[in-house]
Amino acid sequence: MENRITVHQNEKPIYDIVMEHSFEQLVPELKKIGADEKRICIVTDTTIGPLYAEQVRNLLENQVREVIVFTFPAGEQYKTLDTVRDLYTVLIKAKFDRNDMLLALGGGVIGDLTGFAAATYLRGIEFVQIPTTLLAQVDSSVGGKTGVDFDQYKNMVGAFCMPKLVYMNLATLHTLDRRVYLSGMGEVIKYGLIRRPEFYQWIGQHVQAIKNREPEAVLHMVSVSCDTKRVIVEEDPFERSVRALLNLGHTLGHAIEKKKDFSLYHGECVAIGMVAAAQMSCKRGYLTEEQVKELKEILQLFDLPTDVSGLDKQEVLDATKNDKKMIAGQIKFILLKAIGEGIVDRTVTEEEMTAGLSAVLK
Ligand SMILES: NC(=O)c1ccc[n+]([C@@H]2O[C@H](COP(=O)([O-])OP(=O)(O)OC[C@H]3O[C@@H](n4cnc5c(N)ncnc54)[C@H](O)[C@@H]3O)[C@@H](O)[C@H]2O)c1
Ligand SMILES: [Zn+2]
Repeated sequence: MENRITVHQNEKPIYDIVMEHSFEQLVPELKKIGADEKRICIVTDTTIGPLYAEQVRNLLENQVREVIVFTFPAGEQYKTLDTVRDLYTVLIKAKFDRNDMLLALGGGVIGDLTGFAAATYLRGIEFVQIPTTLLAQVDSSVGGKTGVDFDQYKNMVGAFCMPKLVYMNLATLHTLDRRVYLSGMGEVIKYGLIRRPEFYQWIGQHVQAIKNREPEAVLHMVSVSCDTKRVIVEEDPFERSVRALLNLGHTLGHAIEKKKDFSLYHGECVAIGMVAAAQMSCKRGYLTEEQVKELKEILQLFDLPTDVSGLDKQEVLDATKNDKKMIAGQIKFILLKAIGEGIVDRTVTEEEMTAGLSAVLK
C-alpha cells in the first residue's frame, strides 16, 4: 500500500504526504526538508497538546535549532484572528525569522490557523501539517487552503499556502472521539462519489474494519482519499473549475450546519447534503432511486445522519445564499452524473434545491 503521495504544482513536486502508524519517521522526514537548521514552533490545542505535544517535542529536542510550543483552547470558536495575533506575539518574542517553521499538530482548526499564520508571518514562513483527526487527514491538511473565521463568517479570511510536508501518525485516530471520527467518513464517502466508484464499493465492503480503526483499512482509506484530493487540487489549485467538486454535499450541508447552530458535526451535515444532492441527481435522471437508497444505507452504517428535524426549508435555502460561494456570485452546485462522477452544475434552480431539501428535512 502506498504510504507516500507527492503533490505537484505545474509538474513540480511541492510536498509529500507521509502516512505512518507512529511519530517515529517524523524527525527523518523533517530533516529531509531542512528542518534541522530551524527554530520550530509546535502549534496545538488544549486537547491534543496533553496527548501528543510532549512526545513530538521530545523527538525534536536537540534535533533542530530550538523547539517551542504554542497551545490555544480547542474548538472552532478559537479559529480567529485573535488567536493568530497571540501566535504572532509568541513568534516575535522567540525571534522567529523567515527561515523558521511552524508545525500544526491537531485537527482542521489547528491546520487552518497555523497555515494562515505561516502564510502571513513575515510575508510567509514554512509550515508542516501533522493532522490528527480523520477530517484533517483526508481533507483539510491537503491542498493548501488556510484561514480563520471572521465574526459569523466561516473561513472568511485566508490564503492559499502549501505545507512543506504532511506527516500523519494514523495511530492518533485511536484517541479521537467516536462521533468525531465517524463524522470524517462524510468526506471519505464524498471522494468515492465524485471520482472513485471502486473506492465507494470498497468502503461499503469494509465498514467494520473502518469503524474499528484497523490500521490497514485506515491506511488504505486515508491514502485513497488523499490521492483523490491530490489529483483534483493538482488540476485546479485555486478552485477555478474541478476543485469545486470537493463541495459535494456542502452547499446545503453548510446551511444546515449553520441553522443547527453547529450542534451537528461538519461531516454529518455533509452526509445530509450529499443525500439531498443525490436526490436532485435522481430527479434529473442521473442516478436511480436504488442508488440513492444505497447511499443512505452506507451513510447509516457509519452512524451518519441522512435527514434532520426541526428546520424550515425556506430558512435553509436563505442560509445557502449567505454562503461564501454565493457571495462570490452564481451558485455552483455539485451533482452526481453517476456514482463516481461528480459534475459542477450552474443551472440548478431554487425549485430543485427545495425538492432536494424535502428529501432530508423531517
Ligand atoms: N483547509 C481546508 O481545506 C479545510 C477542509 C475541510 C475543513 N476545514 C476546517 O477544518 C476544521 C474542522 O476540523 P476538525 O474536524 O479536525 O476539527 P477540530 O480541529 O476542531 O478537532 C475536533 C476536536 O477533536 C480534538 N482532537 C483532534 N485530534 C484528536 C485526537 N487525535 N485525539 C483526541 N482528540 C483530538 C480537537 O482538539 C478538537 O476538540 C473546520 O474549521 C473547517 O473549516 C478546512
Ligand atoms: Zn467538508
